[in-house]
Amino acid sequence: MTYTDPAHSDAPLLDITGLSKSYGRHRVLTDLDLTLPPGIHALLGPNGSGKTTLVNVLSTLVPYDSGEVRVLGLDPRRDRKALQSLVSLTGQYAAVDEKLSGTENMLMMGRLFGLSRRDAERRADGLLERFGLTEAAHKRVATYSGGMRRKLDIAAGLIGRPQLIFLDEPTTGLDTRSRQALWDEITALARSGASIFLTTQYLEEADALAERIVVLHDGRIVADGTAAQLKGRIGGSTIQLHDDAGHILEEIPTRGSALDVARHLDAVAAARPDVDVTVRRPTLDEVFLELTGEPADTSDRTELDRDEVAA
Ligand SMILES: Nc1ncnc2c1ncn2[C@@H]1O[C@H](COP(=O)(O)OP(=O)(O)OP(=O)(O)O)[C@@H](O)[C@H]1O
Ligand SMILES: [Mg+2]
Repeated sequence: MTYTDPAHSDAPLLDITGLSKSYGRHRVLTDLDLTLPPGIHALLGPNGSGKTTLVNVLSTLVPYDSGEVRVLGLDPRRDRKALQSLVSLTGQYAAVDEKLSGTENMLMMGRLFGLSRRDAERRADGLLERFGLTEAAHKRVATYSGGMRRKLDIAAGLIGRPQLIFLDEPTTGLDTRSRQALWDEITALARSGASIFLTTQYLEEADALAERIVVLHDGRIVADGTAAQLKGRIGGSTIQLHDDAGHILEEIPTRGSALDVARHLDAVAAARPDVDVTVRRPTLDEVFLELTGEPADTSDRTELDRDEVAA
């Protein structure tokens, strides 16, 4: 028998066929098929659609019922221990210990990952610095703000140098600046070679970060593609006619091809030669609404965020 380390083989990041999971009689995930290469990917879906359940299954936290599931070539049910040394999960709710300091939390995680004390200390210092927590490192987590806890939680998950990082709603509840900082961190992690699978209810987050976006609704995958592909699914661009003040006078749907847009623009130019026009692609918000029948959650966002989304 030859030994092949799945982590170094060409196995896809995720390879899932027919995955189903129920809690009691409640079916939460139904017959999921999904293959993803290494990279940053987002799982997008409304409340209760099964995002946390899927992430928990993939990170070995809860067992699946049926289907074929491979994460980095390993089966989260059968190869649980091996997989746990390669992945990290930062859950939807912070899992840090309030009574301990930031550094102590990091060292505890380091021990869980089997690092030597010295290695753990070195890693902890580096990660705390990277997440802007050096000054607070020796304070008890009970004194941390929500954003600081979230950052510590994510930093603690990174101490074992995971190949695949699961982040369940990493930026929920963060202000715009902290969210942007975390996005930068996530991008930097990916550049250093780690893969990231994050769940989010924020369309602009998926749009900004993810190479592939998987949309979950009622425990089923209803779409899977790049942001551009998803936007393309709900038809072509719209031509908007504006008055001098920028107000929209009329919207003309097109099929999106250069020929079709040009044909409509010719008609507009002939009828109203001086009107201002813009050609607008569908937004991910519109895609999401079309796919799930539910608007994306904006309940805990600031006014600033909403303005950014509208812009
Ligand atoms: N441990 C559990 N026992 C029973 N039912 C559960 C359990 N965990 C989740 N569920 C149910 O599974 C469904 C999906 O829940 P899940 O937490 O995966 O959704 P989600 O997409 O992460 O939602 P949210 O956006 O609110 O975090 C829900 O109907 C939920 O009530
Ligand atoms: Mg969840």
